[in-house]
Formats: sequence, C-alpha cells, structure tokens
Amino acid sequence: TAAAVAALSLGVTAGVASAACDPGEMVIKFAHVTNADKHPKGIAAQMFADRVNEEMNGKVCVEVYPNSTLYDDDKVLEAMLQGDVQMAAPSLSKFEQFTKVFRIFDLPFMFKNIAAVDEFQMSDTGKAMKESMTRRGLLGLQFWHNGMKQISANKPLIEPGDAAGLKFRVQPSEVIKAQFEALKANPQPMAFSEVYGALQTGVVDGQENTWSNIYGQKFFEVQNGTTETNHGIIDYMVVTSTDWWDSLPEDVRTQLGTILEEVTVSRNAEVDKVDQDARAAILAAGGVIRELTPEQRQDWVDAMKPVWSQFLNDVGQDNIDAAQAINA
Ligand code: LMR
Repeated sequence: TAAAVAALSLGVTAGVASAACDPGEMVIKFAHVTNADKHPKGIAAQMFADRVNEEMNGKVCVEVYPNSTLYDDDKVLEAMLQGDVQMAAPSLSKFEQFTKVFRIFDLPFMFKNIAAVDEFQMSDTGKAMKESMTRRGLLGLQFWHNGMKQISANKPLIEPGDAAGLKFRVQPSEVIKAQFEALKANPQPMAFSEVYGALQTGVVDGQENTWSNIYGQKFFEVQNGTTETNHGIIDYMVVTSTDWWDSLPEDVRTQLGTILEEVTVSRNAEVDKVDQDARAAILAAGGVIRELTPEQRQDWVDAMKPVWSQFLNDVGQDNIDAAQAINA
C-alpha cells in the first residue's frame, strides 16, 4: 500500500526498516550494512524496495534493513542459508568462504575504474561468476557498483613505506590481507559496523574504503587524512538463496528479476556521481584528502602489484589478461 511505502521511508530515515507489510504479502528481508540515502548500495536497495512495494503491492513486500541493523556481512550469508533473510548485497570481498572467483576484484590496481569493472562483469566470465556459488546454496542476481578504494590512517600516507608497521582494518579477504602485508603493515579483519570505533580508540590505525563509505561512516573524522590512491575497487553482488529463489512462483520471480535489473542499470550509471558527491562532502566537512603525484602513485603500484602472483592460480592468467585488455 501507499501507507506501507510511506512507513518504509519514515523507518529508513530513523535508521530502522519498518515497512508495514500487509497480511498475506510475502515478505522479503533485504539486509545491508551502509546508509540508505547517500550511498550507492543504500539508494539502490531502497529503490528496489519502493518499486516492488508499489508494483507488486498485495503480493510481495520488501523490508530493507540498512546500517547492519539486521546482520553484519560476516553473518548475513549464513542467515540467508537458514532462511532468515532473503536478499543482501555484500561486497565481493565477503564471499571468501564460498568461492575464490571474486579474488580478481580485490587485486590492487587490477581495474582502472568502475567502467572497466562493469565491462569485465558483462563478459561471459563475469556473468558466470553470479552462478559460482549455487552448489553452496547462493545465487548472484546482479552486480552493484560502489567505487575506487582510498587509504586513510592516523598519520599522513604519501609513500607506501608510510604504511609500514601500521594496523589496517580489512574486509575478510585473503587478497586484501596480502596487499597490506606487501606494505609491511598488519591487516585486521573486522566487521564494517565496528570500524569507526576501532579507528577512534586506536584498535587499528587505518583502513581502506570508497569515498561513500569513508563519508557515510565518518571515518575521515577519526583519521589524519585520506590518500587518493584509487588502488582497488569495492563492488557488490546482490545475492539470494537458490532454494528460496527457486521456490518462488514463476511470475513473482520474473517480476522481481526485472525490477532488480532495471534498478541495477539505472543506479550503476550513477555511482561515479554518488562517489564524487561523497568526496566533496568530506572536504566540505573539513576532512583532509591527499592527492598523489604520478610518481608517488607509481610507488604504490610497485609496492602492491607483486601480490598478483600470489593469487595467479585462483584468478587465472586469462582473466587477468581480459581485465588488462579492458583497461587498455
Ligand atoms: C566494508 O566492509 O568496508 C564494505 O564492504 C562495506 C560496504 O558494504 O560497502
């Protein structure tokens, strides 16, 4: 109902999902970890819910739980297999327990920008990745984009050597751990919702993330500054349980798939703007952003890129070659 949609947006403003689903409607819980209104993922999830709640009103109702209010990413996939949540969009770095095919997306300096990521994902290899976990009960529906990663710490980072000895929060990805080890830094895996507190109290010294996450979680407030390295990417897979998806009536599954695809196309086209808005908002709020000269950035490439060889067997030279051809 319209009331349900209004209640949903009220709930989201207050930071809790409260779509008043009507009796008899099938409820789809969509859990994620970012904010709902200034973030590529949050905006896309909300748009998907709004459209389903309007166009499938009376049949299906999506409840969005942003800001880790339902699950952190380290719990959400298990919860999905238990049937406690139906949809989520963890970053591709969060599927380590289920597949290694996403490791290519974590390799530093693999993709020059999000357009290159998009092109790779649209290739046959990329499309097949959505089905890489079906044997484990998870089905990828769409890729959602975020942006390029930057590095922040409690001291200025200009040369890669500046990161040596520091503790960095990382997503639970072997590639990202290896990337920080290549800098002689100490990677500490941690849930997204805990990062601000860990930076504030000095449990970790730094972190890497996109502008929308550094802004959305206010990391810049508790860091000396952020260095614009553009050294990697954060991208998402909208994921569901194969059992649940297969159990849907065909017309429902088709309509959900169509709405999701349309939302994906329209929001993926806007991510660079959301990213740059977040960057500008950090500066406007007094955050420090350090740009690198081409020579300085090349030093980060030289320090991090050797990590590729450690993961060559998982990722495949053919896939690396395909990604590099897209960059060229
Ligand atoms: C992170 O854990 O830093 C990111 O994956 C969070 C997100 O969903 O963007």
